Amino acid sequence: MEKALVQKLIDTAIEQLNFSYTPYSHFKVGAALLAKNGTIYGGCNIENAAYTPTNCAERTAFFKAVSEGVRTFDAICVVGGKDGVLTEYAAPCGVCRQVMMEFCDPDSFQVILATSREQYDVYTLRELLPLGFGPANLA
Ligand code: THU
Repeated sequence: MEKALVQKLIDTAIEQLNFSYTPYSHFKVGAALLAKNGTIYGGCNIENAAYTPTNCAERTAFFKAVSEGVRTFDAICVVGGKDGVLTEYAAPCGVCRQVMMEFCDPDSFQVILATSREQYDVYTLRELLPLGFGPANLA
């Protein structure tokens, strides 16, 4: 992927930190999901007083897209940290990896983990979810 597009995804994910609703953990996460049609869907984590209804930033982005009829994706960028300070990569949780598995080709879908415009690494979904179970297993 072109560096300019990676940086746009990183910028979008960082912007999403402003919307993150985290009165309990104070751990803010932002995501930017790139659809194959070129649209970028932002997402933030949304916590809840009952804790388990909390939605991760990645799933917020996926559900925004899918709820609008968009189901094919090339990449997602994820950033996060305590109080929104980006010191380490915020890798997607297992539930979010499974949601990616539902809609993405594990060998080509790219997961970009970043702490800044300059500091990022790119993984395939397959690297993050080896031996994953997905729609192909039910075909
Ligand atoms: N969180 C995400 O948004 N994405 C992840 O993949 C990991 C965890 C959120 C959920 C919760 O609001 C906070 O980070 C602490 O777990």
